[in-house]
Amino acid sequence: MAIEVVLGCQWGDEGKGKVVQLLAQGADWVARFQGGANAGHTIFVGGRRLILHQIPSGIVEPRARCAIGNGVVLDPLALAEEIAGLEAIGIEVRPRLTISPFAHLVTPLHKAAERLGRQDRAIGTTGRGIGPAYAEKASRSGLRVEDLLDPGRLGEGLDALRLRLRSEHGLGDAALDEAVGSGREDIRSRLEAAGRTLAPLVGDVSALLLESDDRGERILCEGAQGALLDIDHGTYPFVTSSSTTIGGVCTGLGIPPRRIGRVVGVVKAYATRVGLGPFPTEMEPGEADRFRERAGEYGATTGRPRRCGWYDALLARRCCRINGVDELFVTKLDVLGGIGRLRLAVAYEGRPGEAPDAPPGEAGGRDWLSSMRLERARPRYRDFPGWRGDLQAAARFESLPPEARAYLAALSAETGVPIGHVSIGPGRDQVLAVTAG
Ligand code: GDP
Ligand code: IMO
Ligand code: MG
Repeated sequence: MAIEVVLGCQWGDEGKGKVVQLLAQGADWVARFQGGANAGHTIFVGGRRLILHQIPSGIVEPRARCAIGNGVVLDPLALAEEIAGLEAIGIEVRPRLTISPFAHLVTPLHKAAERLGRQDRAIGTTGRGIGPAYAEKASRSGLRVEDLLDPGRLGEGLDALRLRLRSEHGLGDAALDEAVGSGREDIRSRLEAAGRTLAPLVGDVSALLLESDDRGERILCEGAQGALLDIDHGTYPFVTSSSTTIGGVCTGLGIPPRRIGRVVGVVKAYATRVGLGPFPTEMEPGEADRFRERAGEYGATTGRPRRCGWYDALLARRCCRINGVDELFVTKLDVLGGIGRLRLAVAYEGRPGEAPDAPPGEAGGRDWLSSMRLERARPRYRDFPGWRGDLQAAARFESLPPEARAYLAALSAETGVPIGHVSIGPGRDQVLAVTAG
């Protein structure tokens, strides 16, 4: 049986957690391969809302084992809390979770580095230490989970990091402690304690997954963030610091691409973005405020109001092509009920020198998606009549209002990918399978 992958194909918060919760039924493994505690994946279990940050959403499916791959940057203090929180409500975590020894660590020093950095403020990052941890990884000075298990190496690594931070920001020892919010010994002892908790969970994620796949078991990979936040393919520099697209699955878990058999692309029926950066289909402020209220678009990790806009089929098409998406999972369709006019961006106007219908990057390769160009892009919309009434009660795809089906048909055609499922509410089972025709 081939490995399945769930990837966000917008700017994150597409509803990946809910989709993974649904697909995790019957799965043997659910694995996170990139990102860290910047993710906030919301699911509902027995009427209770859970927001998962580092643990795969599959943890709520009792049969599934969960993995945190080498591509993740792991905050061990936050993870220990997340584990305790889940175990306190009766979800067994520790016997079912495996963590790669090669995942890099996020410590309070990384979070302080993010607060001190001007660049991160200009992007509107989540403050979870993600950028600094991946920067340390790329510069080959990072601390990894295996170092957490060795107090000597951990101490040396933390001291080296302190020195780098002090010289970068011209801080004395005490000023650094103040910026971090705790002192050297405190951080060290808290991390050592987390290391003792996590030590029994560390294992060879790549080998475990490949052996499981050899046995024909079901493996699901849970993306965090979305393709437009990808460090390479996103709206750089307004991106996160990891590979959120398909390649990140292979490098972040240690599995070969040919083992991947199905790629599910998750998109909202509209668009949101948290933080700064280009967003061609963003609504005008008043309209966005009203939309945000009805849609409940506030960040699951930071509580920030999310920017709201219309579905951008050009960008979605590009994300789906990069990821090789086999089927779309369209979420939050119910939110569009009662809106008179629905809009779908199908082209950009006003880009000199090429046909207005050509999606960026597809005009014979002469144009490419870049933040600068997207800042100037003016979308051309196809408008659709909305529908009245509450979709959350719909029992079958066929019983959706014709206007909703027409909107979805256009969304799929303009994105160039068939829709497999449509989500009409936050609950795991509020999903309609799309039948052909
Ligand atoms: P993720 O980061 O991709 O997992 O998404 P988030 O959890 O950050 O944001 C998605 C939000 O939409 C959460 O509050 C979900 O409970 C909610 N949600 C997911 N699917 C649906 C849906 O079909 N309808 C509605 N109304 N809410 C949904
Ligand atoms: P999930 O997994 C939405 C955004 C931040 C910021 C940029 C960089 O819930 O979809 P970072 O802290 O990663 O350095 O911030 O990326 N961002 C997200 N936006 N959903 C997320 O995760 C995000 N994780 C990071 O708002 O613009
Ligand atoms: Mg989220």
